[in-house]
Amino acid sequence: MADINLQEIHDLLISIAHEAGKMMLTATPSYLDSGTKKNSADLVTETDKAIETMVSTRLQSSYPTYSFIGEETFISGETVLTDAPTFICDPVDGTTNFVHAFPAFCISLGFTVNKIPSVGVIYNPFLDELYTGIKGHGSFVTRHGGEKLRLPLKKEPEPLGELSTCLVGAEWGSDRTGNNFDVRHQVFVKLCAAKENGGAMVHSIRCVGSAALNLAYVAAGQQDVFWEGGCWAWDVAAGWCILVEAGGIMVSANPGDWEPRVDGRVYLAVRGAPSGQKGVVEEFWGVVGERRLSY
Ligand code: IPD
Repeated sequence: MADINLQEIHDLLISIAHEAGKMMLTATPSYLDSGTKKNSADLVTETDKAIETMVSTRLQSSYPTYSFIGEETFISGETVLTDAPTFICDPVDGTTNFVHAFPAFCISLGFTVNKIPSVGVIYNPFLDELYTGIKGHGSFVTRHGGEKLRLPLKKEPEPLGELSTCLVGAEWGSDRTGNNFDVRHQVFVKLCAAKENGGAMVHSIRCVGSAALNLAYVAAGQQDVFWEGGCWAWDVAAGWCILVEAGGIMVSANPGDWEPRVDGRVYLAVRGAPSGQKGVVEEFWGVVGERRLSY
């Protein structure tokens, strides 16, 4: 790690993210011409593929010996995250939003060393919001090219109370049958239900439609918690670095695992708080209960 210049990598990823942003804004995606991967809720567009090609070409020319994992070129069972320095790219996170022109999509560029997220860059070109982080050096947001603000946005974040005081990010995902859909459905209901009905009565649930942006919002302190299963390393690697640098933590979406893997596919992110996150994690795991997401 000593000879890896994280600042240089961070600067290159920002330059690539801006190029990707221009490609997204000049594209005219539509759900009519987008393809699907697993099912009709799992979309991919020509823009996803074109951006990934641009990203991998630029990274390859600057860092030919580093590994690369990208959503569009990932081969199940073959592409594996190792301890090697690795770029992890989601060319368009929030593809469904992208094809509907709903303004919550971004490029997510992470860099891991020893499987630890060490640089993160997330750029939403529609809102011109850039989230960045470097391991050990904090994380930041820059809006409209203006002032670079340190995350979390509040200098003194409030202590985390019970879930009933939390704004929770969660997604419906693209699995709409079987155990994973049942668990998700049950968690949504229990989070929202009134306490007298056995629920956690959270302030509300937000379905942003991009795991990377959800993580950025938790890092910023604008969401307290984000719970998700089924997404991939490229959805979370960048946001994970940004979150941790803002004082947040990442644990598993399933109860009991305080040290999930970047490619573990089940995640619970909690914002930084002076009181720590243990109470809210354990309460959330109580909501998930006995049944597990399995990916
Ligand atoms: C998806 C988004 C979504 C999450 C899915 C991801 P994509 O990524 O992050 O919020 O619920 O699990 O696959 O397909 O838009 O890159």
